[in-house]
Amino acid sequence: MSFKSETDTEVLANLMEYIYLKGKVKAEMAVRLALSRVVGAYGLVIICTDEPDKIIAARKGSPLVIGVGNEEYFLASDATPIVEYTKSVIYLNDDDVAIITKNELTLKTVRNDPQTPVVQQLDIDIGEIDKGGFAHYMLKEIFEQPRSILDTFRGRVAPDFSSIRLGGLFNVLPKLIDARRIIIIGCGTSWHAGLLGEYLFEDLARIPVEVEYASEFRYRHPIINKDDVIIAISQSGETADTLAAIQLAKEAGALVLGICNVVGSSIPRETDAGVYTHAGPEIGVASTKAFTAQVTVLAMMAILIGRKKNILTEETYLKYIKYLTEVPKKIEDILKMDDDFKKIATLYKEANNFLYLGRGYFFPVALEGALKLKEISYIHAEGYPAAEMKHGPIALIDHNMPVVVIAAKDTSYEKIVSNIQEVKARDGIVIAVVTEGDKVIKELADHVLEIPDTDTVFTPLLAVIPLQLLSYHIAVMRGCHVDQPRNLAKSVTVE
Ligand code: AGP
Repeated sequence: MSFKSETDTEVLANLMEYIYLKGKVKAEMAVRLALSRVVGAYGLVIICTDEPDKIIAARKGSPLVIGVGNEEYFLASDATPIVEYTKSVIYLNDDDVAIITKNELTLKTVRNDPQTPVVQQLDIDIGEIDKGGFAHYMLKEIFEQPRSILDTFRGRVAPDFSSIRLGGLFNVLPKLIDARRIIIIGCGTSWHAGLLGEYLFEDLARIPVEVEYASEFRYRHPIINKDDVIIAISQSGETADTLAAIQLAKEAGALVLGICNVVGSSIPRETDAGVYTHAGPEIGVASTKAFTAQVTVLAMMAILIGRKKNILTEETYLKYIKYLTEVPKKIEDILKMDDDFKKIATLYKEANNFLYLGRGYFFPVALEGALKLKEISYIHAEGYPAAEMKHGPIALIDHNMPVVVIAAKDTSYEKIVSNIQEVKARDGIVIAVVTEGDKVIKELADHVLEIPDTDTVFTPLLAVIPLQLLSYHIAVMRGCHVDQPRNLAKSVTVE
């Protein structure tokens, strides 16, 4: 049986149909047999035309909730759209399969082991359910990052951590490996993720990369070669400038890939192939978990391609995979220090200007930290390469200027230490993100935000967390509408 498809979901549907027809089995068994053979995350609702009175639901890694009404059932990826109809819900667990008919719900596992459905009563109203008990979506999404990053690499890192496999790129991998140039396009936070992509691909896969603001790229009559690979990054998958830049690249005949969070949005439909970030719905306008998910995908791509090109040895490849799988726990450890970040926010919530500095992999983190602060607290904040200080920004430094420095351990550590000394010599305030246990910067800075040690490649995923929380707490203390900041939309679908 052969068929053409562009999405893994269609492949799954075809596999189920193949088993159903070949095996002459019931739809439910065909579903279970198919699911027993696939690797990866899914949240599925299946209907078979031969059995129209039955709905089959299954999940692994992607949330699926069943609402239990008086005479009906509801299915959704979270409780938000259900709670207005019923507060009785069943959260499916990984490997659960639910068979729902008009009057009955049966729960079992993919392996056909019977399960007892646990009906929970939602004891909060729709206004809370969205936020899972957190004060704001943004805070919930910051705290979701250990799980969302796990979901991003689940099914893509082999269970024995021996390899990375990105199914969405399977057909285009040879072109990516041979790419003479990668052009990354995006806007805002997605552009910052793209900048990290430049460091990752050039460092680990030795492929030249250009990172472009989609809004500039679409109008500046860029040179796009047929052997270029374009990577469009977008949480919403609907950003107008990014969509327009994609059209330009397609007209030039380049291979266009997407890294998106919203399944089935426009950009995944417009691109030749891509990778979903699997971060789950991101409601807060300020992007947090989508950013770290985007960077996680870019890191997996760079490591995979670096290995395929033999630029990374097998030993280094396995080392990076191990570091990647340790990120969620390290973020959990950082989140436990939230009260410390809140204390610092209290001290500087009235500042009028912030400067964010970083070098190398940490420069895009400085940009992202500055964007987080300005877009939700309305405080002017700029991100800069730390070495650029002496070319202008140092004139700004005084005792009113908090300077956030990403100063985790890496090859340019000595240089960032001297940048901190330059700021202190001019009576500036230094808030430094450091590798836990750092004693040197502790003596120099006004405040240190400690993050666990990891490889430089993955430090941005850790260093951005304190910056997200610092911005969040300052914005809340200033009475700003954190989830819907003034003048901003979650998806900029207009120019
Ligand atoms: C980030 O916090 C902002 N909300 C904004 O810069 C956003 O990243 C930008 O509009 C791009 O959106 P997209 O990722 O959905 O394309």
